Order: sequence, then structure tokens, then C-alpha cells
Amino acid sequence: MKNGLEDVVAAETKLSDVDGEGGRLIIRGLSLDHLVATETYEDVAALLLDGFFPQRIDSAELRIRLGHARITVFAHFAAIDPDLAALPPVEAMRALIARLPDGDDLDTALHLIAAPAVFLPALLRLQKHEAPIAPNASLSQSADILAMLTGNVPSQQQVAALDAYLVTISDHGLNASTFTARVVASTGAGLTSSALAAVSALKGPLHGGAPGPVLDMLDAIGTPDNAKTWIGAALDRRERLMGFGHRVYRVRDPRADALKGALKPLVAAGQVNAERLDLAQAVEAAALAILKERKPDRPLDVNVEFYTALLLDALGFSREAFTGVFAIGRMVGWIAHAREQALEGRLIRPRSVYVGPLPQAA
Ligand code: ACO
Repeated sequence: MKNGLEDVVAAETKLSDVDGEGGRLIIRGLSLDHLVATETYEDVAALLLDGFFPQRIDSAELRIRLGHARITVFAHFAAIDPDLAALPPVEAMRALIARLPDGDDLDTALHLIAAPAVFLPALLRLQKHEAPIAPNASLSQSADILAMLTGNVPSQQQVAALDAYLVTISDHGLNASTFTARVVASTGAGLTSSALAAVSALKGPLHGGAPGPVLDMLDAIGTPDNAKTWIGAALDRRERLMGFGHRVYRVRDPRADALKGALKPLVAAGQVNAERLDLAQAVEAAALAILKERKPDRPLDVNVEFYTALLLDALGFSREAFTGVFAIGRMVGWIAHAREQALEGRLIRPRSVYVGPLPQAA
């Protein structure tokens, strides 16, 4: 038995390949570097969904229909009760997604892809006692998210940075939340059910819940000269360093560098806290050196969540919202995998080994 299903192959997919030894991510035949440099979020969403619905949809049409889907989904927000709005953003978002009808068609998919992008900014505004802002269907998904969050027209650099983030995290093999989505889809339950289960799996600190704690860690370390001592003490307490380590990557997570690159225009525009960036780089260097010394048999490097924390912070998201933004980007990957599973897969039903007591002989 493989504890945690490590190295177990549980699906064939045409969607993405995570090369853990080479540090490479391929999505639909294209490398992550290429996608981040040349494609918009809508391009990548269209690419991921291609072939999974009876009607084909290109990037331009997807942008238009996604804009309309954001408007439709926003109507669900009117009935929100204050108790729900007070929940942590990702939990409130999950409860709102649960109100969407289930189905396996393209409209259900587009409403699900629009839903977290609309719900998260609205929830974050409500928590600050500000009125939610209605979506603008003519904007790209990234520009509209930022406009709904702040009420201002976002800068070109901000839109490009969020778009690069959404592209970077759009799909990533059989991670815990995507596997969850495929398990639910394999029962024939529908896309909304798959997406809801996936959001729940994403929320944990070992998966999509890590970037908020990355900022907590940077705050606790405080200054670059404190990094070595703080990290050493944390490892003495057998704590895990958030934003480091990965089940598949044995080298640097390529998404970390994609996001570090996406931060550069924001840095040039003075939109990143320069002290925090210096601190992050010092923490990264110190952590890598100490982990190499302490865990010589387990290569541990930076993962996607480390620079996610800096990027989303620079874009004005509070740390409690980071997992919700992750859900915005990953939703299209979950849906593509759920459709692939439903169309080409079989009920997922593994076996367990019983290690409990046996009935006593009479
Ligand atoms: N800090 C310190 N030690 C670590 C870390 C870390 N971040 N990650 C793994 N290790 C150590 C473990 O303590 C263990 O050491 P031991 O054998 O001496 O006990 C060894 O490396 C192997 O750890 P596993 O738990 O077997 O590794 P696994 O593949 O299950 O874990 C995971 C992967 C969960 C991502 C892990 O690296 C971790 O907890 N990282 C921190 C949380 C994080 O950043 N999560 C985001 C991941 S990216 C994503 O999901 C989008």
C-alpha cells in the first residue's frame, strides 16, 4: 500500500503533466513558461475546456460568455445572509457555490468558473462593510475581479499580474483537490458537486491553504537577519515551513518562478512592498540552506504558494482571501478534469486493507 497514494497513477489525462524530476509543468501540450508569457486566462480556460462539451468555444467567445455568467451569478449574491458573510471567505464562497444548480453542460461550467470570481470580491467588501460591486461583462475575468474588489480601474500591471497568477494555477495534474473533483465526477454527480468537493479539499493548509500562513511566517520572522534563527527554531519544533516542499516536485516548483516573474512589473511600478520582497528572498535562501542540511534525503524547495502570498498581497487581497483566489484560478482545471473523468473514466472505487479487530469466534 502507498501511504497517501504517493506515485500511484490513478488517471490518464490530456490536460496537464507535472514533471517532478525536471521541474516542468505542461498544460495541453504547452509549457507553463510559454503560457504565462503569451496567453490570457481566457485563452487557457478555452484550451482546458476544449473538447469536453458538445459545442466548441474559443477564447473570444469564452470571454463574452464568462462576462455574462458573472452577471448571472452576481444575482445569487442578493440573498446572502449576514451569518454566511461572516464566515472565512473560502467557506462563505463554498456555501454560495452550493446554491448553483448542478449539471454537466457548458452553461453550468461557465457559471462555476464565474462564481468564485464574483463571490470572493463581494464577500471581501461585505466584510469591510462596503457594498458589493456588480460585475462588468465587458472586462476580462482578471480585470473584473480587481474592479469588483476595489471599485477602481486596475492598472495594466495589476491585471497582467493577476492573469499570470490565474494561468499559473489553472491546472496541475492530480493534486488533492483535482483528484477529489474526479472522484465526485466519477459517480455522475455533476460539475457543481465536483467543484464543491474540490473547494473543500483545497482549503486545507497542506494544499491551497498555505499562502496565508506564508505571510504569517514572514511577519513572524520580521527582518532578514532573523531568518536563519527563526527557521531553525521552527524546524526544531518539527513545524513545516509553509510554501516549501511538494509531493511531486523534487526540484523547484516551476510555478514559483512564474509568479516571481509576474511580480516584477508590480515591483517596477512600486506596487510591491520592497522590504517584504527582500525579506521573502532572504527567508527563501535561509530555508533552502537549512532544509538541505536538516533533510538531506528529501529535496525540499519553494512551492507555488510562497510567491503567491507576495503577489496576492501586492494586488490588495487580504491573507484570509488567498485560498479563495486560488479557487478562482483552479476552478477551470477542476471542471476540465471532472468532464474528462465523466466522459472517459470509470467509477473511482479503490480498496482498503482492513487492520481492525475480527469478530470473536462464538
Ligand atoms: N517544511 C519542513 N519539512 C518538510 C516540509 C516543509 N514544508 N515538507 C516536507 N517536509 C519534511 C517532512 O517533515 C518529512 O520529514 P521526516 O521524514 O523527517 O518526517 C519529509 O519532508 C517528507 O514529508 P512528507 O509529509 O512525506 O511529504 P509530503 O509529500 O506528504 O508533503 C507537502 C507535501 C504537504 C506539500 C509538504 O511539503 C508540506 O507540508 N509543505 C508545507 C505546506 C505547503 O506549502 N503546502 C502547499 C503545497 S503546493 C499546493 O498544494 C498548491
